[in-house]
Amino acid sequence: MKLTILGGGGFRVPLVYRALLGDRAEGRITRVALYDVDADRLGAITRVLGEQAAGVPDAPVVTATTDLDEALRGADFVFSAIRVGGLAGRAADERVALAEGVLGQETVGAGGIAYGLRTVPVADAIARRVAEVASDAWVINFTNPAGLVTEAMSRVLGDRVIGICDSPVGLGRRVARLLGADPDEAWFDYVGLNHLGWLRGVRVAGQDVLPRLLADPEALGSFEEGKLFGAEWLRSLGAIPNEYLHYYYFNREAVQAYRKAERTRGAYLREQQAGFYGSPSLGSWRATLADREATYMAANRAAAGVGERAEEDLESGGYEKVALALMRAIARDERATLILNVRNRTTLSVLDADAVIEVPCRVDANGAHPVVVAPLPYHAAGLVTAVKAVEREVMTAAEGGSRAAAVRAFALHPLVDSVTVARRLLDAYVDAHPGLAYLAKS
Ligand code: G6P
Ligand code: MN
Repeated sequence: MKLTILGGGGFRVPLVYRALLGDRAEGRITRVALYDVDADRLGAITRVLGEQAAGVPDAPVVTATTDLDEALRGADFVFSAIRVGGLAGRAADERVALAEGVLGQETVGAGGIAYGLRTVPVADAIARRVAEVASDAWVINFTNPAGLVTEAMSRVLGDRVIGICDSPVGLGRRVARLLGADPDEAWFDYVGLNHLGWLRGVRVAGQDVLPRLLADPEALGSFEEGKLFGAEWLRSLGAIPNEYLHYYYFNREAVQAYRKAERTRGAYLREQQAGFYGSPSLGSWRATLADREATYMAANRAAAGVGERAEEDLESGGYEKVALALMRAIARDERATLILNVRNRTTLSVLDADAVIEVPCRVDANGAHPVVVAPLPYHAAGLVTAVKAVEREVMTAAEGGSRAAAVRAFALHPLVDSVTVARRLLDAYVDAHPGLAYLAKS
């Protein structure tokens, strides 16, 4: 089995490779092709993977290339984990939005729109190459904003592209632990868009045990989401929101904390990663990863007045585990239930069939099929439809170079409070990113 990783010089590739090294089962991945536009980054990551493989018998063979078609040829699975514009681009996304007093986050609000506008054209081009060169391959998309990018790719690849994110898994794991349940045995009633979903129930042996947690203020206040949102708000909502909803429910506080921070997340990571890529080794990769995990969402935690992340949340094991479980279920026709980003079909009645949503899916050799979930309450349906409308404007802008659609994308977002601001944001982003030249004023 051949796995191609697009963005193969990316920092989180060794997480995926580590998971592959632990897979001894029949039908496992035996070849990994790394593709990246940056040969130096490819070299750095190849070196780390080499150190990881030392002493492991039959470690998957790694090759690296800057030729997309060569990387794709013969692939059974393609992971897409690219970052158009790099971390410098992410930092610019944040800076421009914060200068207008609105949120500049990688996936949420104005920052997410800017990132989407420059990523969708690239993701679309990649999807077309996959359709041409590796039409039987399954594409697993990690590229953020993951829901939007998966939907853009699905216009070319249909259900052959599946988006993944580890935040619903982390949420499920934390809640299950508190309830004394095995996360692999529990059924999570979770639905929404990527980074915009709610956990409404946790079924163990046919019974919903989430009300037990919601009734226990002490337990509620003891885990990441409980600390971020406060026990009272969770009880009042009757659900546990994805941590990214902190940007909506506490927008003012989050923006303030972002503005107060010495450096934005993107700027921080940019500096941190420059250190690693300057002298790459397995040791420095591990140290850099530990630091990245420890500082994840630090500004939000500062805004909520909560301390460090819990020890058990620091070990990663979300992102690459979901990817591996998904590949296994497809390759070996092993039935699994995973929370994934797939086309809606008829799951949420407020969205059309082609809208990509994040929902538990049954996975087998035929792909991922969303399961039936309860409808969203109005407040959640409102956010989901508003943000889906924004995503659609981003896709329209990217497809036809429509500036009007790009302005609508910013202006219609619930976290951008003025059409004037939306226009200024677009102009400032066009100035900041060469990749957005297609939206410049004519
Ligand atoms: C979470 C999100 C991902 C994001 C990752 C890293 O896992 O679900 O979408 O890429 O965090 O965030 P960071 O701020 O460290 O880049
Ligand atoms: Mn994510």
